[in-house]
Amino acid sequence: MKPRSLLPGVSILCLSIQATNAIDLDINSYDSIKAAAKTVARDLANTYWDPYSVNGVHPWPTYYWWLHGAVLGAFVDYWAFTGDTTFNENVTVGWLRGVSPTLNLQPVEQASSEGNDDQGFWSIMSMDATEKVFPETKGQKDLGAGFLEITQTVHNLQVGRWDETTCGGGLRWQINNWNNNYKYKNTISNGLFFQQSARLAKYTGNVTYADWAEKTYKWLRDKKFIQDDFYINDGANVPNCDKFSNEQWTYNYGTIMAGCAAMYNFTDGSARAYWKEQIDNVLNATIKTFFDADTGAIKEIQCQEGYYCNDDQPSFKAYLARWMGYTAQVAPYTYNDIMPRLRKNAQLAAATCVGGSSGRDCGLKWNIGPQFDGKTGLGEQLSAMEVIQNAAPFVANVGQVLQANNGGESKSNPNATGKKIKKDKVEEYLPYMLKNYHITGADRFGAAILTILTVAGFGAGVAFSIMG
Ligand SMILES: *[C@@H]1O[C@H](CO)[C@@H](O)[C@H](O)[C@H]1NC(C)=O
Ligand SMILES: *[C@@H]1O[C@H](CO)[C@@H](O)[C@H](O)[C@H]1NC(C)=O
Ligand SMILES: *[C@@H]1O[C@H](CO)[C@@H](O)[C@H](O)[C@H]1NC(C)=O
Ligand SMILES: *[C@@H]1O[C@H](CO)[C@@H](O)[C@H](O)[C@H]1NC(C)=O
Ligand SMILES: *[C@@H]1O[C@H](CO)[C@@H](O)[C@H](O)[C@H]1NC(C)=O
Repeated sequence: MKPRSLLPGVSILCLSIQATNAIDLDINSYDSIKAAAKTVARDLANTYWDPYSVNGVHPWPTYYWWLHGAVLGAFVDYWAFTGDTTFNENVTVGWLRGVSPTLNLQPVEQASSEGNDDQGFWSIMSMDATEKVFPETKGQKDLGAGFLEITQTVHNLQVGRWDETTCGGGLRWQINNWNNNYKYKNTISNGLFFQQSARLAKYTGNVTYADWAEKTYKWLRDKKFIQDDFYINDGANVPNCDKFSNEQWTYNYGTIMAGCAAMYNFTDGSARAYWKEQIDNVLNATIKTFFDADTGAIKEIQCQEGYYCNDDQPSFKAYLARWMGYTAQVAPYTYNDIMPRLRKNAQLAAATCVGGSSGRDCGLKWNIGPQFDGKTGLGEQLSAMEVIQNAAPFVANVGQVLQANNGGESKSNPNATGKKIKKDKVEEYLPYMLKNYHITGADRFGAAILTILTVAGFGAGVAFSIMG
């Protein structure tokens, strides 16, 4: 197929219909990137996000709870890349609700159907918040719901689920043996565990995490979840993991790449050389598999062209963009390979945001020029948001990845495995419990923040510094 030009004028018809609302993105201007990210983020928040609700994202059951963790991660990045605190309060509300009274990212409503990958997406979000030093409230800290210790909690729980009895190791997809896919070991559950372990190692300097990262990665390669040519399979059934689903998904490549990048950063000498080789190969396979040769657009090749994507899959490009951005930060030698491609995709994605009733909804296909393909949803919006905001570090020195010995603040608790919060604490701090046990509880939490804001008259930053 011939590449379509993105120059205005070629698709005059589309542009002239939608021009009033289309998202204007000058990729060389930080202000423009911030404004575009804000428009997409605002529409996402207004349409799909309700941090006070049990599920966090709606409509349910189109969108599942794991996507709430993914959305919170995008809003942590949003704040880190733009400095805009508009959504921070809702990130905190969503977080407190998600960590649940058991402080293990297995809230009671989700626990019976939750997979290791669902928990992993939340855990990676809290790692983002740890590294970017997202503000923690006093209540959150008092409860033991700080970001770092919750990631450590998930790590400890998932270590306990490492299963050597089948396939020589690895995590199963599901946590509970009564769930259908308990027999499946998938790349995303293990890839998130790998990435989480690697980032914990880089952040804390604790070698035990690096040992787990290495063990998981070696298992993924030995068992051919990551093939010898670095194309990455989706997963395989127990007991032997010898027959693969070889579907190719962007997020599997992204999570492996980011984990390798964290290990590259954490190690030195020949170990670093090993991880560099892994990054280079995974990056090459990613580009060959998902980056359209004509347009440079990232394509979710497994489902996008024929519109076979389910309600989860349109969001996967968001995580590839996020984790490529992360890779460019912690393995900066990849910057010149990654950033031009992300910047290109930021422009391509923004150019699709001319759809729906708003005239600004973002589409699924980024490879068809400045037009909307009729696909609108949480995933489309999230993918555009992440790829646009991840272009920010190219033009501004924002969103650095910090660590404990260099600006990090979140409290470490390496032995945490979750705990039940005492009811009085719950009532005091958790909007989640407030809403469930007191009819007007959520309003009270909101009202408290509002009062502080009104009295102080500044903005969310003030609320956080008072609460924190
Ligand atoms: C925070 O969430 C509530 C509940 O969904 C919503 O009414 C409010 O507008 C949100 N705030 C922002 C800044 O989006
Ligand atoms: C990755 O691809 C580039 C360009 O095709 C090539 O020069 C490089 O050798 C490849 N790297 C690896 C590790 O295969
Ligand atoms: C490790 O990551 C930091 C950012 O967290 C970066 O500044 C540094 O250059 C990286 N180290 C190497 C060896 O790439
Ligand atoms: C390092 O992590 C391990 C495993 O979680 C933990 O047992 C140990 O206490 C940690 N060490 C330090 C110094 O925090
Ligand atoms: C975590 O537990 C290990 C093993 O029981 C112990 O050696 C270590 O001191 C504990 N770490 C902390 C920070 O409590």
